[in-house]
Amino acid sequence: MELNTIERDDLGAAAEDLVVPPAATRKVFVKTYGCQMNVYDSQRMTDALAIDGYAATDAIGEADLVLLNTCHIREKAAEKVYSELGRIRELKAERAKAGREMLVGVAGCVAQAEGAEIIRRSPAVDLVIGPQTYHRLPAVLAKARSGEKIVETDYAVEDKFEHLPQPKRAELIRRGVTAFLTVQEGCDKFCTFCVVPYTRGSEVSRPVAQIVAEAERLADAGVREVTLLGQNVNAWHGRGEDSEEWGLGRLLFRLAEIPGLARLRYTTSHPRDMDDELIAAHRDLPALMPYLHLPVQSGSDRILKAMNRRHMAKDYLTLIDRIRAARNDIALSGDFIVGFPGETEADFEATMQLVKDVNYASAFSFKYSPRPGTPGAEMNDQVPEAVKDERLQRLQALLLKQQRHFGASLVGRTIDTLVEKPGRQAGQKVGRSPWLQPVIVDEKAGEIGDIIQVRITKTGYNSLFAELA
Ligand code: 5AD
Ligand code: SF4
Repeated sequence: MELNTIERDDLGAAAEDLVVPPAATRKVFVKTYGCQMNVYDSQRMTDALAIDGYAATDAIGEADLVLLNTCHIREKAAEKVYSELGRIRELKAERAKAGREMLVGVAGCVAQAEGAEIIRRSPAVDLVIGPQTYHRLPAVLAKARSGEKIVETDYAVEDKFEHLPQPKRAELIRRGVTAFLTVQEGCDKFCTFCVVPYTRGSEVSRPVAQIVAEAERLADAGVREVTLLGQNVNAWHGRGEDSEEWGLGRLLFRLAEIPGLARLRYTTSHPRDMDDELIAAHRDLPALMPYLHLPVQSGSDRILKAMNRRHMAKDYLTLIDRIRAARNDIALSGDFIVGFPGETEADFEATMQLVKDVNYASAFSFKYSPRPGTPGAEMNDQVPEAVKDERLQRLQALLLKQQRHFGASLVGRTIDTLVEKPGRQAGQKVGRSPWLQPVIVDEKAGEIGDIIQVRITKTGYNSLFAELA
């Protein structure tokens, strides 16, 4: 899977902090797990529920509907959901004693993968709804309110986005100056470790007109930076306004024409889909931020083959050279899996070597987790947990060193920063560097939405401190 699971903290106010329409009588609490696409989907479900009279709340105790938007990418992700459902069951019983109903829904990739099993394991759950059918949520809820238990996990034939209502302008303004926009969903690559092709279905690209219209609405509401999302975002393609077939590169050029949109990003990509036009966009499009998340998973050809990644380590390194030749200040990020079945010490060393060769600005690394239904889970030579632990530690130490080094290399430099939100501490604001680091500045350095020039004075754990240049 190519979208990163991120800690809720990194998203600031994104998912839990939701709109309250004035006439609403029912309340919904949405909890989002996993990747940015789930954050985006949670917002769109909240928008649909607002029309249905549900006001969002961040107090689970007062909710008439609790919706968990789940992630299935690794074992712990699903287990967290089940333990949360245990707590919710108690809450639901308390509410019932007080004479109030609380509906419980499970959405997202666990919903898609487990279906009715969720209701069997957690009888407090009233509805299970997969990612392809969120536009049916109001209808599903109406049934659930009449006491039916519902499992809705078809791969819908209709386009969910076409049927999901757009948020109000005021709500977009409230959500801030950066936004996600899903342009592509699903995956046809079938890496042998990954559940995404099963939970998100096959690759679908949203049409150009829909994407442009949504980006224009975002810009009109003051959004300055848009991140295009897709499990395989660089596999996006569509019929352009000139009737030609566009790839992601062309789409980025088109979106850069929208007044107000100053910054574009996309995530996450597969190395096989980095075409010439997209690399050219990195060279020629100043709005395209110099940061690329390009997962490789392993540096061993043998393991890459077993993972069905369909490229070798050398292909990846050559690609990185071409991308750096196009844009020399690009910061690279990646995903890694250690302990894939059959991984030997030598295979792991090849991964360490690849990391040294690339020199990442940031990265995400995981222990292999067998996912039911994927070919990897059936493979014989599973790696012992202790070996996975030890390899993960070594890899993460190296990646952390590279990340720190990248941060430190920026000290003393003057860079652009998009002022994003108030800081955690009084007197501060937080911005975003071109390379996605949070930048802490004095609150008087600029207004939210401004792009200001700052000089980096020092680095924090994952952030930069800066003063107005
Ligand atoms: N085990 C461990 N990590 C996984 N990922 C995807 N599937 C698994 C799995 N079964 C990681 C990959 C992917 C990231 C989002 O999650 O590195 O790129
Ligand atoms: Fe999963 Fe591979 Fe598809 Fe990414 S490309 S979503 S890792 S199957």
